[in-house]
Amino acid sequence: MAERVPTGITELDNMLGGGFLPKRNILVTGGPGTGKTTFCMEFLYRGAEQFNEKGLFVSLEEKQDRLVDNLSQGLDWDLRKHIEGGAIVMVTVENFSWEHLADTLQAYITRHGVKRVVIDSLTLLKMNTKDPFEFRRNFIGLMGFLDNLDCTTIVTAESNFMTREKASYSLEEFIVDGVIVLYNLPIKNERRRALEILKMRGVKHSNSMFPFKITESGVVVYQEEII
Ligand SMILES: Nc1ncnc2c1ncn2[C@@H]1O[C@H](COP(=O)(O)OP(=O)(O)O)[C@@H](O)[C@H]1O
Ligand SMILES: [Mg+2]
Repeated sequence: MAERVPTGITELDNMLGGGFLPKRNILVTGGPGTGKTTFCMEFLYRGAEQFNEKGLFVSLEEKQDRLVDNLSQGLDWDLRKHIEGGAIVMVTVENFSWEHLADTLQAYITRHGVKRVVIDSLTLLKMNTKDPFEFRRNFIGLMGFLDNLDCTTIVTAESNFMTREKASYSLEEFIVDGVIVLYNLPIKNERRRALEILKMRGVKHSNSMFPFKITESGVVVYQEEII
């Protein structure tokens, strides 16, 4: 079997035959509050905690202290231990340019021997690049640049679709190797979280939507249930 990069989210790894393929670029997309940031941080946290792999979290939105405070609220992970110990490197990019982002990535990935990278989120990048053609060109460039580094990357993007039927895909879905969609579906008087593997090049996977919860120990997917 091909080497895999486990997410550490057990049920998801089962669904992916062990995890992501190494060195691939994965997009995690969904509406606000669907769990994108939590999911990505879990990828880095499990990497540090269970797989001895260094992670880099590039935040384009939230300041790192705020981010870690927010995540530490509901989760029983000792994130600060890994940040202080250098197993998870947090970077906030504020003055955004594509060149600056690439330089930052290159510097941290090579200097720290990072294996797992998160870029959260593309939405600001998109807003900063008004011309869709220019966005596409820069995004393809960034993904290609990451292909030459020895790391597996998750990028997040805000989407505004609530249901699968309303989904409309944009450029980035076609460019990446894999797409995971997170939903927070209104069902009767509540909301239920669900996850879908929309695409994963080179990996056999289910096309169903699976319920998930965000618990104290992180994301738990219910593989036996289908929404
Ligand atoms: N341990 C937890 N238990 C329950 N809900 C949580 C927990 N941690 C975070 N949440 C909720 O999950 C939501 C997802 O947050 P976040 O990952 O920031 O989403 P996104 O990045 O998609 O906007 C937040 O609204 C938060 O209240
Ligand atoms: Mg977020």
